[in-house]
Amino acid sequence: MCGIIGVVGSSDTLATLLEGLTRLEYRGYDSAGIALVRPGQTWRARTAEGTESVAALRRVCEDAPSGFSSGIGHTRWATHGAPEAVNAHPHLDCSGNIAIIHNGIIENHRELHEALVARGHLFTSVTDSEVLAHLIEEARARGLELMEAMRQSLLTVRGAFAVAVMDATEPDVIVAARRISPLVVGTAPGVTYLASDVPAILDRATAFYAVNDDEIVRLGPEGFRAIDLEGGPVRLHQLSIDWDLETAEKGGHDDFMSKEISEQPHAIRATLLDRRRRDGTITFDEMRIDDEELREVKRVVLVAAGTSHHAALVAKYAIERWARISVEVDISSEYRYRDPIVEIGTLVIGVSQSGETIDTIQATREAQRRGARVVAVSNIVDSSLAREADAVIYTRAGIEVSVASTKAFVAQVAALELLALRLAQLRGTMSPTDVDALFLGLNAVSAQVATTLERRASIELIAKELMGSHDFFFLGRHVGFPTALEGALKLKELTYMHAEGYPGGELKHGPLALIEPGVVVVAVATHQLMHEKILSNLAEVKARGASVVVVATDDDETIDAVADFVMRVPATEPLFTPMVDIVPLQLFAYAMARQLGRNVDRPRNLAKTVTVE
Ligand code: AGP
Repeated sequence: MCGIIGVVGSSDTLATLLEGLTRLEYRGYDSAGIALVRPGQTWRARTAEGTESVAALRRVCEDAPSGFSSGIGHTRWATHGAPEAVNAHPHLDCSGNIAIIHNGIIENHRELHEALVARGHLFTSVTDSEVLAHLIEEARARGLELMEAMRQSLLTVRGAFAVAVMDATEPDVIVAARRISPLVVGTAPGVTYLASDVPAILDRATAFYAVNDDEIVRLGPEGFRAIDLEGGPVRLHQLSIDWDLETAEKGGHDDFMSKEISEQPHAIRATLLDRRRRDGTITFDEMRIDDEELREVKRVVLVAAGTSHHAALVAKYAIERWARISVEVDISSEYRYRDPIVEIGTLVIGVSQSGETIDTIQATREAQRRGARVVAVSNIVDSSLAREADAVIYTRAGIEVSVASTKAFVAQVAALELLALRLAQLRGTMSPTDVDALFLGLNAVSAQVATTLERRASIELIAKELMGSHDFFFLGRHVGFPTALEGALKLKELTYMHAEGYPGGELKHGPLALIEPGVVVVAVATHQLMHEKILSNLAEVKARGASVVVVATDDDETIDAVADFVMRVPATEPLFTPMVDIVPLQLFAYAMARQLGRNVDRPRNLAKTVTVE
């Protein structure tokens, strides 16, 4: 997730851009850059100093020429191309007049790149974004003005973008467009702004407008006009913003956790973008283990901690079911001390949102010492885990600020299930048709999560009803079990109340003794195959006085007879259910914690990243 900003008609362009980039830094980045544009001149500066990039850029800009009333800026969270200055935005066309900044992924960048090179274009980076500069260059060479050049270029592009372009031969104009990646426009007398989100321009613009998917906007000092991809006029929706800066960084939410829960559809969609070639091959650009080696994998071991461990447990079911490879999942802090067996053909996958959890890093180091090949699944580009691994799969959930992990979990499940499908493709354990069907189903999950998020109010009512409860058991079977574990962890770390996750079948092997009036049992009952079994668990606990809350699919007509409260979700492929079913459990824990007055972003005793053993 990158950050973009632009301004036209400003008397302090440089300050506006640098301040805006600083405001965007909570989105995280590894490099930054700006371009200042005036008639006949495009001046560019870029740095790649990790999270110090904007500070370094500020120093470089001390030597910037003055007298520019327009410019664009970008903070980059690398997806394609290493986090080096040469790959930092803005990118220029061959003439050096056109500068673009881009947040998103151009899925068909490879074919566009090849065609542009064949037509004589010289690329200076290995990013997907640079193709946009050269496409617009060609359109301008056909005599099109900048907005039409953008429109015609985007007609050839697949993927996600919030893109902005300037051209020294059409000064005091910025043209921007949006698909999936966020983009807002701001206005003030004589000045017009654009940014990835409101905070970046909150203290400069006085009115704010949302750009929707496939809308193109042309900014000038006097204001803006917008069209759709067909070229028809569009009215931008004006946002009512009465936020202070801190609220703005939370996207209008009360806290980062609420914001990050709401970002889950985008986190899944972004993680799955550009992962499938036209011939159906599932691909991980950053995977540096070749297909032959992956094909020879005999055993998979996943190591992780906390929420990431729960995502790893889901992956076990998917890899074994689809790729028919034996999978073991271990808590990172246990793995390294149990003298683990690593044979030829063992693939170890370290799952970590931060990529800095020392337990998981030490576990993967131990595995490598014993000869295993290691894949990192990380949400942070160039994290320690990613750097040390033999290969990396990046989740693209965007920076996760709240200590309680939410969007990273669903992104990890999506990435790991995609890896399971890739292994199935390589081993021929599933037909291409079945892999395609599951890939399409995986891509439909973001909409199912969005639907579930709309039911937030009903979850809050259940939380209100259960205020005063102190003991919670979360039950699930099959992949509902890791979901139950994750739901219990959310409730524990947010409310400080006792909650445990258990496989439903374990209830009678001990926990049932704890069930009595006042205890709340939360069951995940969305998996068709295990439905009857969960119902019998619920009958057992109800008979002993427990309050029963059930996560059930919209079409489940039997659950009302046994549940005191039902959290409804859309039905989906069984192995995809954790990404949907976890949403009401996150919302439940959040609502309970808010009612208890807890600090949901900074729970007591906990840190976002545990870098000590
Ligand atoms: C989850 O809500 C917690 N913040 C914690 O369990 C976390 O998942 C764990 O510390 C692992 O962090 P990582 O994914 O960054 O490795």
